[in-house]
Amino acid sequence: MSRPPRVVITESSPRDGLQSLGAFVATEAKIALIDDLAVAGLVSFDAVSFVSPTAVPQMADAAEVVAGVARSGICLQALVPNRRGLEGAIEAKLDGIGVLTAASDTFSQRNVNATVDESMARIHEILASVPEHLTVRGYVSTMTHCPYEGVTDPDRVAGLSETLLEWGCDEVFLGETIGMGTTADVARVLDRVLDRVPVERLGVHFHDTYGQAIANLAVALDAGVSRLDSSAGGLGGCPYAPGAGGNVATEDVVWLLDGLGIEHGVDLAAVARVARAFCDTQRLEYRSKAGQALLARQATPE
Ligand code: HMG
Ligand code: MG
Repeated sequence: MSRPPRVVITESSPRDGLQSLGAFVATEAKIALIDDLAVAGLVSFDAVSFVSPTAVPQMADAAEVVAGVARSGICLQALVPNRRGLEGAIEAKLDGIGVLTAASDTFSQRNVNATVDESMARIHEILASVPEHLTVRGYVSTMTHCPYEGVTDPDRVAGLSETLLEWGCDEVFLGETIGMGTTADVARVLDRVLDRVPVERLGVHFHDTYGQAIANLAVALDAGVSRLDSSAGGLGGCPYAPGAGGNVATEDVVWLLDGLGIEHGVDLAAVARVARAFCDTQRLEYRSKAGQALLARQATPE
């Protein structure tokens, strides 16, 4: 047992939380979501993606969103699938980028129109021209399961993770894209990955489709992982992973971290209020269990 004393949460609701929604969320609402969550103590944001607007129309206003956010004291990351995306991120003055590969060729092909090898070649190209001030996060999606191919190979996840760090990524995040993996699956993959990657440079990104995300996160924390993505209100999905549910809810994560005595710097009640109001306005399901419980308790007179 080597749980970290503190963790860094990257708030994914503005990007992963919104990217699959059919109805376009107004730019001002996206900006307000980030600003309000920053006031609630979140400092790292998976904010936007610079991808094809035909592929992901919801992210078409990425540059406007970034330009409108009050930037003080927070870091904004953008997903970029190619050099053109990197240029967008540089122009918009992002703090970091996320680059994309996966342990499954079919998912990678659907997601970024490239096999895993081709996606790695694109990442190599991006890394060759990334300015020093940008931090680079490598995502390895489908860490346990692919929506098209089923169970993925932990050794492939480990190999890709190691290569991404060798090539210059600052950190690697394992994506449980489809949310099917149980603690046994996650433990098996972490075991292989941590043989080849230092735990300080590893993060996790869990979707909660099958209700396993909090349990999986507990396994990652027990393994010493101190970087994680979560999404206020449990928003999230992937346009190329049919049936993928939301991300693990930031509120549920914070509840777990408080119980374990792990520092995080986030005001749970404030996140719940912001996310609940956002979901109500946008007519989205508010999925955080901890947030629902807390808000119900606050609404009940003593
Ligand atoms: P392609 O068709 O191979 O690329 O798509 P292309 O170079 O032929 O370009 C196609 C069109 O996209 C062209 O426009 C380009 O100009 C445009 P058209 O001529 O058709 O009008 N284009 C761009 N536009 C803006 N920004 C760009 C850009 N690049 C090309 N950077 C491509 C390849 C990667 C572009 C496409 O497949 C794509 O954008 N995919 C979107 C991928 C995506 O956003 N997926 C969801 C995020 S990943 C995720 O959610 C997983 C994660 O959460 C972790 C986990 O859960 O596991 C991170
Ligand atoms: Mg995701």
